Amino acid sequence: MKHFINLKDIPAKDLRKIISDAKKRKNSRNKLNTLEVDKGAPLKGKILIQMFEKASSRTRISFYLAIKQLGGGTLTLRSNELHLGQGGESIADTAKILSTYGDGFMMRTDSDKKIEDFKRYLSVPIINGLSPSSHPTQVLSDIFTVEEIIKKPISKLNICWIGDSNNVLDSLIAASVKFSFKLSIGCPKKFEPGKKVRNWVKKNNKKIYIYNDAKKAVSNADVIFSDKVISLNDKVNKKKKIKAFKNFKIDKKLMSHAKKNCIFLHCLPRGDEVSDDVFLGNKSHVWQQALNRVHVQKSILLYCFGKLR
Ligand code: CP
Ligand code: NVA
Repeated sequence: MKHFINLKDIPAKDLRKIISDAKKRKNSRNKLNTLEVDKGAPLKGKILIQMFEKASSRTRISFYLAIKQLGGGTLTLRSNELHLGQGGESIADTAKILSTYGDGFMMRTDSDKKIEDFKRYLSVPIINGLSPSSHPTQVLSDIFTVEEIIKKPISKLNICWIGDSNNVLDSLIAASVKFSFKLSIGCPKKFEPGKKVRNWVKKNNKKIYIYNDAKKAVSNADVIFSDKVISLNDKVNKKKKIKAFKNFKIDKKLMSHAKKNCIFLHCLPRGDEVSDDVFLGNKSHVWQQALNRVHVQKSILLYCFGKLR
C-alpha cells in the first residue's frame, strides 16, 4: 500500500511516473467536460474520504474533481463533526472505521504526528493534504506546472522561493533533491529553513542556496515561487513577521532582476507578499497552477490505489 505523506519518503522514479501519467491524462481530456470520466474509469466504485482540520478551497475542490474524473467519489468531513474531533473517539478506532467505509483517506491537519498515527492504524492509503511540515500534493503539481509552461525538465532550471520557511517550502526543498534542480531561497535571516530540513539536504549530498537579500535570490531565476508570509494558524506576532519581510515583496522591480522570461507561481491563498501587477500580470500562471492540482492529484490517487499505468 502506498501512502503520500512527504515527498522526502517517495522514490524519485515514482514521483516522475506520477507526473508523466498526469501529462498523458491531461492531454487526453481535451474534449471532455469537467465531470466526464477518463476512459476506463480506473477508480470506479472507489471513495476517498477527506478530512479537514483547517480551511481549504483548492485542495478540497481539486481532490473532489480528481476522483470524480477517475470514476470514483469523495466524502468531505470537518474533523469537529466527528467523535474524534470532539475528543470522544481515538485515532485508532476512527482509522479502523475510515478503512471500513472508505478506500483512501486524505487529511489536512496541524499535526504531523496525527498523520503518522492515522497511517499506523489505517488499512487504506493516506494522503497528506497539508501539514505543518509538508504540502506534497501542491508541490508535485507545481513541478508539473513549471515543466508544462517552460517545456524543459525542471533539473535544467533555476528555481527561486521568496518567502517564509513553511510547509510549502519544505516540500519544495524535498523536491529540489528528488528532481535535482537548483533552489535559491530569499528570506530574512530569522525565517531561514530549519536545521532538520537543511541537514536532510546535506545528508542527500545536495545544496540549497539561501540569501537574506531578495535581489540576490532571484538573480538568474527561471521561476519565482511564493506563499503567504503568515500561514494558516501561524502562531507568531503577525505584525512583526510581516515587517521582517518588507524587503521581500515580489513586485515588478524585483521580477526585473530575474531572467527575462521568468514566470511567477503562488499556491494561494495570497497576502501582501506579491503586488497585484505581478500576481495578475503576464508572467504569472497561478490559475493554471491551481487547475493542475486536479490533473496531478488524479495520478497521485492512482499511485496510492496501486493503479498507476
Ligand atoms: N493551495 C492550497 O492548498 O489551497 P487551499 O488551502 O485552498 O486548499
Ligand atoms: N503555507 C500555507 C499554505 C496554504 C496552502 C499554510 O500552511 O497556510
